[in-house]
Amino acid sequence: MSSGVIIATPEQMEALGRHLAGILRRGDVLILTGELGAGKTTLTRGIGEGLGILGTVTSPTFVLASTHPTGGEAPLVHVDAYRLHDALEVDDLGLDPAASITVVEWGEPFAEAFGDAWCELVLERPMGGVDADAPLDGPEPRRVLLRDHGAPGLFGRLDAVLMKEGTTHAVDGD
Ligand SMILES: Nc1ncnc2c1ncn2[C@@H]1O[C@H](COP(=O)(O)OP(=O)(O)OP(=O)(O)O)[C@@H](O)[C@H]1O
Ligand SMILES: [Mg+2]
Repeated sequence: MSSGVIIATPEQMEALGRHLAGILRRGDVLILTGELGAGKTTLTRGIGEGLGILGTVTSPTFVLASTHPTGGEAPLVHVDAYRLHDALEVDDLGLDPAASITVVEWGEPFAEAFGDAWCELVLERPMGGVDADAPLDGPEPRRVLLRDHGAPGLFGRLDAVLMKEGTTHAVDGD
């Protein structure tokens, strides 16, 4: 697993998404893990911008999967698996991950349903960094960690972007 980079603001999270879009290819599956409000949709919005989708990535209440044409080699398929119960429900969505760039919020429990190789980005609030005086809805640092699940090529491409991001922002030392 990568040591992780610190992303200080939602704007930086979106910028990270735009940079990641530059290395994403048809067939890539990216699973986003992190608690409510961790920044998964914010990151995906940046990926959508970077891929040049029409419109914006949103966080809809009822839609489980949205397909955004990109004008490139593959559409962006954005899945919010929060309300899914098992892999069979993923199958029911009728997705074609081999022909798409698939980004799945909350997808870790059913990742196999999206193929046999994927990478996972874990978004978390760093411990001990809470500033008691900061406004509750203000920017707050997030740590972004990368894990490989049988997709070394994708891992290498993602890791290169994260490492570059880490040279402009702070990098976690552990
Ligand atoms: N460093 C940061 N990176 C990303 N978002 C941040 C950051 N600091 C504050 N935020 C705020 O946290 C919220 C993240 O919301 P977002 O919808 O992206 O989270 P999510 O992980 O998709 O949540 P959900 O699990 O509900 O889908 C936004 O309101 C954003 O402004
Ligand atoms: Mg979300």
